[in-house]
Amino acid sequence: MRIALMDSGIGGMTVLHEALRRLPREDYIYFADTLHVPYGTKPKEQVKRSIFEAVERLHKERIKALVIACNTATSIAVSELREHFPFPIIGMEPAVKPAVELVQAQHKRVLVTATPLTLKETKYQDLVAKVAHESIVDSLPLPELVSYCERFVFDEDTILPYLRDKLGGYQLEEYGSLVLGCTHFPFYRSHFRKLLPPHVELIDGSRGTVKRLRQVLEQKSLLSEAGSGDVLYWSSKEGPEESERLRQAYGLLEAERYKEV
Ligand code: DGL
Repeated sequence: MRIALMDSGIGGMTVLHEALRRLPREDYIYFADTLHVPYGTKPKEQVKRSIFEAVERLHKERIKALVIACNTATSIAVSELREHFPFPIIGMEPAVKPAVELVQAQHKRVLVTATPLTLKETKYQDLVAKVAHESIVDSLPLPELVSYCERFVFDEDTILPYLRDKLGGYQLEEYGSLVLGCTHFPFYRSHFRKLLPPHVELIDGSRGTVKRLRQVLEQKSLLSEAGSGDVLYWSSKEGPEESERLRQAYGLLEAERYKEV
């Protein structure tokens, strides 16, 4: 049986990339809800319906576990999904905890970037309240980055001015870490790196999520040694062009521009 990963679009491939590295003897289905992307700027109930539709479809495939490779979908639907479906579900949330731990000794601040919907949800606000004792966390929605990513816009002439404008209001020297709290954003690691002071660490949740996936598979004796890292790319948008687009997106992650900087 395969492990499914789902996202509104190509963002969750940053988690798939990590999963293929850490768990290469598993096989996967990657599901992009391209018909309904973006999630992060839409009303919660509407997005929840799209997520349930997508997961119903994956359920028909007898998957052994589901990774919600999307911070937005996790924040609005993970508890209800767990009540509804029989397979283990691994969610993800902005990596605020490690980001706060990292800066505490240096007396620096944390900047969390994510979608507007993630940042609005009580799940995120509770998380910040739990892990950060003083008000050292600032939140910055970057919805346009999701649209750029879905359109494969990575050129620096477009992205750097956009990010420069969004980061312009912050005294970046005061920050010790920046959280990439949307799975689309690690596609822009090198762009962020160009604009941030060298001491600011970029943190995303893929590694923690895949660690958790491994733990869950181990606990349930579901870990495989027989797979080969095969991936089926599926989308809510039918057609060969879409399958090709998803394959290309994964290729981009391996390319020069996604170096771990
Ligand atoms: N990739 C998603 C996330 O991690 C959602 C992006 C969107 O559809 O707005 O939040």
